[in-house]
Amino acid sequence: MTANPDPRELLGLARRAAHQAGALVKNAPVHSLDTATKSSPTDLVSEMDRASEELIRGIIRRARPDDGLIGEEGGSKPSESGLSWLVDPIDGTVNYLRGLPNYSISIAVVSEQGAMAGVVYDPTLDETFTAIDGHGAALNGNPITCSSTALPRAVIGTGFSYSAARRARQAQVLVGVLPAVGDIRRPGSAAVSLCWVACGRLDGFFETGLKPWDFAAGALIARESGADVRGAELGEPRDELLVASAPSITADLYPLLS
Ligand code: IPD
Repeated sequence: MTANPDPRELLGLARRAAHQAGALVKNAPVHSLDTATKSSPTDLVSEMDRASEELIRGIIRRARPDDGLIGEEGGSKPSESGLSWLVDPIDGTVNYLRGLPNYSISIAVVSEQGAMAGVVYDPTLDETFTAIDGHGAALNGNPITCSSTALPRAVIGTGFSYSAARRARQAQVLVGVLPAVGDIRRPGSAAVSLCWVACGRLDGFFETGLKPWDFAAGALIARESGADVRGAELGEPRDELLVASAPSITADLYPLLS
């Protein structure tokens, strides 16, 4: 095992795993979409969430057996190499189960210093967002940058928790944000939403209560596109606010989110 692996090779592995998992879930017959609930009646996990994670886990384990892996649907494997993989096998499970577009496979590889490389693959649009720390972000291999819109015209993405109590607080914050911005979207995949900030489709995105597998790859991609990213510290599952915003709106947006 290389002591200092090439981030381009790590990204290549993540991309390969994401594409294979994307093909698996996109082509799944409808009858295999059996669901169970997780933290609340609205927090769904499908058979394909588990199958996608298993496939990704196998690809990464075979290539890098000493790395750790934390997946949304499974247990965690501790790292013996200093590197760990954060995997969301289907981010946007509700969209997926309802046949709505906009779900993704999100994979990031992290060291103690933070995210080194990440990929978010949206099989519904066949879009692959990638980034390597310090080397910019790309969509299908082409460099991308965030927007430079001012807040009154900005389109801001957000997302809502599976917890009813947290949703009530999220609704209160929205009351302050909505009159100050151009419009609001709730795409349904935090990972994709962060990538849409990276390519300028959205001018900002915020959500409370995301887990590291939801945001690790997307936050790196947004940051590498030039967006300001706050609250994306990795480590234990966290409860706070994640914000990604074009620098043109950051100063005006942050005060509305507290
Ligand atoms: C969810 C999506 C959604 C966000 C939720 C996440 P999941 O992830 O990213 O957009 O609002 O907070 O939990 O459950 O589909 O992997």
